[in-house]
Amino acid sequence: GIDISKLRDQTGLITLDLGYKNTGATLSEITYLDGDVGELYYRGYPIEQIAEKSNFTEVMYLLLHGELPTQEQFAKFDEGIKKYNYVAEEMKKIIDAFPRSAHPMGVLSSLTSALVAFNPKAVDVTSKEDMDHAAEMLIAKFAHLAAWTYRKTKGLSLNHGDNSLNYVENFYRMTFKMPNQQFEINPVVVDALDKLLILHADHEQNCSTSTVRMVGSAHTGLFASVSAGVSALWGPLHGGANQAVIEMLEMIEADGGDVAKYVAKAKNKEDNFRLMGFGHRVYKNFDPRAKIIKKAADDILDALGIDDKALDIAMQLERVALEDDYFVERKLYPNVDFYSGIIYRALGIPTEMFTVMFALGRLPGWISQWKEMRLKGDPIGRPRQVYQGAQKRDYVAMENR
Ligand code: ACO
Repeated sequence: GIDISKLRDQTGLITLDLGYKNTGATLSEITYLDGDVGELYYRGYPIEQIAEKSNFTEVMYLLLHGELPTQEQFAKFDEGIKKYNYVAEEMKKIIDAFPRSAHPMGVLSSLTSALVAFNPKAVDVTSKEDMDHAAEMLIAKFAHLAAWTYRKTKGLSLNHGDNSLNYVENFYRMTFKMPNQQFEINPVVVDALDKLLILHADHEQNCSTSTVRMVGSAHTGLFASVSAGVSALWGPLHGGANQAVIEMLEMIEADGGDVAKYVAKAKNKEDNFRLMGFGHRVYKNFDPRAKIIKKAADDILDALGIDDKALDIAMQLERVALEDDYFVERKLYPNVDFYSGIIYRALGIPTEMFTVMFALGRLPGWISQWKEMRLKGDPIGRPRQVYQGAQKRDYVAMENR
């Protein structure tokens, strides 16, 4: 048979850590989070201060460059992004070819990959300057792609960027402006979007970010690495949770709003149902982002005068679950996505676009982590395994099987 002891001699000891629950994959200077106490810092700054005082463009700069920008640095960064506030016209043909029913995350991932073909110079970058340049390019173009996936699902014409606006306003306008209509920026909506994007901007080695780093560790270019990150984020156990939360709340509502029934269902191990938006791999205390976003959800529904049944159900669910031993023992608290969907819905963003919004927010994190990995010269990612398959055996011809 296969001599496992020999294998061990060749490779040394292998740590088996399914899901990498306790394995550090890299050294990083970008984000620190303490899951036991529920704290999150971008480059040393507490998320509460950042969410209250900063804006998304500044946060992108902070994550990418490590420091808050001076006025001059901010202006240069903003200008660098605005220089690329367009997407090759040919990309529209690719969008045209998708059926309207295509999931926006599939469209976004494909379009991000397709960007490589239209911007080949941004692919093979090795110097810090070229990386920063590619980053500004991707930041600008990704906002188009995100807005355009929305326009596609609605069967609407595609809007171009407007450099008189800031990054979030520009995205908002590209997403919602109707043809031949005056478009007014609603500051309440823009503020809410800004906050949501900030709160999603980085979260150390989560599944999609690890994917971006893993793909990039083969020296694959930035755009292709980020496209892989979009695919990873799509999954319902990761970014797809924000869509799953609203779908769950709607289901509970349609079923008469019996919250306790669904809490019981989530506890039943025979049942595959989980309370979406509850639990986190690292936070075993309240998710600090969820606290900020919960308040923002209240404020926005108030400001827009919306009475959302889903939010009522969410509040009841939170109350029932947080008093239940099952959730208490397992330290399952609402995560950021428990509330983000409620805000997106109030802003008129369709459910299947929620994860695209998350992707737009996470983009600076992905880029910063990709850049950090390349500049530090991390080796190619290549985990090992513990083999438990068949022992050595001889091939059997098909007619004899
Ligand atoms: N509902 C019911 N039970 C749950 C839930 C939940 N949402 N989450 C975890 N549990 C239970 C598990 O069944 C397990 O119970 P057991 O010990 O009796 O077997 C225990 O809690 C530990 O759960 P794991 O799955 O081992 O925890 P893990 O760290 O692997 O998973 C995850 C974390 C994926 C977030 C999980 O809690 C989950 O599926 N949550 C729902 C989906 C979700 O909200 N995802 C968003 C994550 S945040 C983000 O990506 C921004």
